[in-house]
Amino acid sequence: MDRLKELRWKLFLLLIATSIFMCMLAVTTPRTSTPFPNPHGPPKTCPFRVSGQTITPLNNTKHLLVSAFMDQRVKGSDIRVIGIFRRDSIQPLHCCFCCAGYLSATAPATILQHADHFGFPFVTTDVMCPIAQNCDATHVALLTQKEGGIVRNQTWLPIRNNHTEENGEEQLQFNFTVCISNLFGDYNNVLQFAQTLEMYRILGVDRVVIYNTSCGPDLDRLLRSYSQEGFVEMVPWPIDQHLNPSKGWLFSEHGGDVQYFGQLATLNECIYRSMGRSRYVLLNDIDEIVMPYRHSNMMSLMNMLQQQHPNTGVFLIENHIFPKKHFEPSGRFHLPRWNGVPGVNILEHIYREEPDREKYHPHKIIVQPRMVEQTSVHEVLKYSGQRYKVPPNVCRLIHTRVALQGRLSLEQLNVDKRLWDFHEKLIPNVDKALKRAGLLSTEGQS
Ligand SMILES: *[C@@H]1O[C@H](CO)[C@@H](O)[C@H](O)[C@H]1NC(C)=O
Ligand SMILES: *[C@@H]1O[C@H](CO)[C@@H](O)[C@H](O)[C@H]1NC(C)=O
Ligand SMILES: *[C@@H]1O[C@H](CO)[C@@H](O)[C@H](O)[C@H]1NC(C)=O
Ligand SMILES: *[C@@H]1O[C@H](CO)[C@@H](O)[C@H](O)[C@H]1NC(C)=O
Ligand SMILES: *[C@@H]1O[C@H](CO)[C@@H](O)[C@H](O)[C@H]1NC(C)=O
Repeated sequence: MDRLKELRWKLFLLLIATSIFMCMLAVTTPRTSTPFPNPHGPPKTCPFRVSGQTITPLNNTKHLLVSAFMDQRVKGSDIRVIGIFRRDSIQPLHCCFCCAGYLSATAPATILQHADHFGFPFVTTDVMCPIAQNCDATHVALLTQKEGGIVRNQTWLPIRNNHTEENGEEQLQFNFTVCISNLFGDYNNVLQFAQTLEMYRILGVDRVVIYNTSCGPDLDRLLRSYSQEGFVEMVPWPIDQHLNPSKGWLFSEHGGDVQYFGQLATLNECIYRSMGRSRYVLLNDIDEIVMPYRHSNMMSLMNMLQQQHPNTGVFLIENHIFPKKHFEPSGRFHLPRWNGVPGVNILEHIYREEPDREKYHPHKIIVQPRMVEQTSVHEVLKYSGQRYKVPPNVCRLIHTRVALQGRLSLEQLNVDKRLWDFHEKLIPNVDKALKRAGLLSTEGQS
């Protein structure tokens, strides 16, 4: 009997304790806020829905938005939204801002299509917006109608570079950034990629930005390892989820919606991404290495060029092709431990084609990002200051790939062993990078 009483008493106490606990919980837990702001009256907070993607469809249009940047270099506008627009369906747009918590009135946008589109239906486009007075803008939305009724449903883009003005030249985080336009398909040229990245590091490059639609499995491992380490910045670029991107550069020949997986949009995005943080930006492909021939690193080259050409923000570097079908005969850098690594060993290719300057011969560009407004691949489209063609004996691109002038015999090619000058540092650094990514077996080192 006593035990039964005791049990009841215990149950009673437990019940009391539980009720007290529940009461306290009810008092201290804040009321969950309603998921949407009151539909009547002015909204209290904005933005409502912020895009976390690198490519954001613009609702009720065929266009895609990429990034919004503060850019007050053009009179009458404060914000530049980089996008990829369908040329045959361009309609008026209105800008709406989120001003640190409240919504601005809408303002008409100016739509600037870039001059280069190579015949494709989609073109890189800048949408220019003026910010309303006293608005501390944090996000922008583009609307197809002037009324703000649909604002709440719209996707907002965060405004980047809003502190660029305050950053003096002295405070730049990087001296030199390399922008690599789109990786796509199952590209898996690991050895050349690792050699190129390590060569860049030796030359004093601080950051390599890579736009990635897709890549092969081994390259994926290598790039994950580099981006973990911080030297490489991977930008997801799922353009194939929105458009039918072309694998070529000319619509009439290759078809598709947009040139080379949207290469032009990525190059422009990279310039703006770098504007507040890097003194120089090089736009090129991963099978190209920018190589100073009289200096041991990029900054000593740039300091000299800039001294000789003070008001210059665009430097053109001539492309030189090293055909991968010709091998250096001694086999000095044919390292057995690299046999299992997919891709081209650039140290084995020392024969250089003389450019046929009668025909069009392309350059790649090094820019001061703050002097550029719009860029294409081989030329800038809108810029301030001067432009200078760097002589090839001062700096050229080492571009290891299939021959361009395939009929030239070995005797007709130049021997160029500039890369070899760096082998003592380059080879161990490439080994380290491959090992870090688990792409080199540790046995059989020479
Ligand atoms: C810049 O962005 C920061 C953080 O997003 C924000 O707090 C600040 O108000 C913005 N400044 C301007 C001038 O828009
Ligand atoms: C917002 O979107 C919802 C569905 O996503 C729709 O029902 C509603 O009508 C939209 N509101 C406006 C103002 O467009
Ligand atoms: C865009 O429109 C679709 C329907 O057309 C709707 O489901 C979606 O919620 C809208 N998104 C935004 C961000 O406006
Ligand atoms: C940039 O290069 C200069 C030499 O031109 C050097 O003194 C400076 O430390 C470098 N800055 C960074 C961020 O690497
Ligand atoms: C590149 O993009 C593809 C497709 O989204 C993804 O599977 C892969 O992991 C990405 N690689 C890196 C290094 O970001």
